[in-house]
Amino acid sequence: MTANLIDGNDLAKKIRSEVAARSAVLTARGHQPGLAVILVGEDPASQVYVRNKIKACKDNGLYSSFEHYPYDLTEAQLVARIDDLNKNPKIHGILVQLPLPKHIDTHKVIEAIAVEKDVDGFHLSNAGALMTGAALFRPCTPYGCIKMLESISFPLQGTYAVIIGTSNIVGKPMAMMMLHAGATVTLCNSKTRDLGSHTRKADVIIAAVGRPNIVTADMVKPGAAVIDVGINRDNAGKLCGDVDFPRVKDVAGWITPVPGGVGPMTITMLLVNTIEATENALRKATK
Ligand code: GUN
Repeated sequence: MTANLIDGNDLAKKIRSEVAARSAVLTARGHQPGLAVILVGEDPASQVYVRNKIKACKDNGLYSSFEHYPYDLTEAQLVARIDDLNKNPKIHGILVQLPLPKHIDTHKVIEAIAVEKDVDGFHLSNAGALMTGAALFRPCTPYGCIKMLESISFPLQGTYAVIIGTSNIVGKPMAMMMLHAGATVTLCNSKTRDLGSHTRKADVIIAAVGRPNIVTADMVKPGAAVIDVGINRDNAGKLCGDVDFPRVKDVAGWITPVPGGVGPMTITMLLVNTIEATENALRKATK
């Protein structure tokens, strides 16, 4: 292996200890940070993610509530629950785990969340403000990727960044954050013709399409930083990312593993956003 590993567990641990300290200060002032988590349906992966988010709250001194609804919950019922949580002073952040069942309009549900409690950063106001560089909250996964690059003092300014994947959760907000950091950005997708012609020029590759081995060693410039957002199962049922890690690690300069890379950082940035939501609420209340 020639690449240096960017250890998401290690960085997450450091940031979570800061989160726990900020949470303790807020709790001592009578404002324990609170996150409401809503899950609709029985998607197995979502159940794991939600369980990990709730555990992270507990481990770091944040309050969390969890509501698990059956698949046939109506959109109106879900929006009514969000309205209640918007008014609940114990709750500073609201997370509705995606994807939602097909009969529910995800946009309507996200827009129902109060902007100041939108710790996922998915609300139109936050997504729009990210364009201008002034979002109240940034989506947790790309925010975590930026923190990983900051942790190795990777100078994004002037670099060429290629992002594979154009989701609202990762690819698009990632592009905005990279642009603000001064990178030249190309957004590719799973259908991009000759993907390697883009990635081979990249100083940073962010792989976020959910397809194992979409990034192979011949597609990586020697020394590049490769951030793997994918969470997939290989043919043997083993967890893997979007990057052919065993071979890419011999070409890249920096690489994130799966598991133990971006995953723990996503949850960590959710905790950070929830702390910030609480600090903002407290500031507003004491003005
Ligand atoms: N589904 C996959 N990633 C996320 C995330 O970051 N937030 C929510 N709410 N749902 C997700």
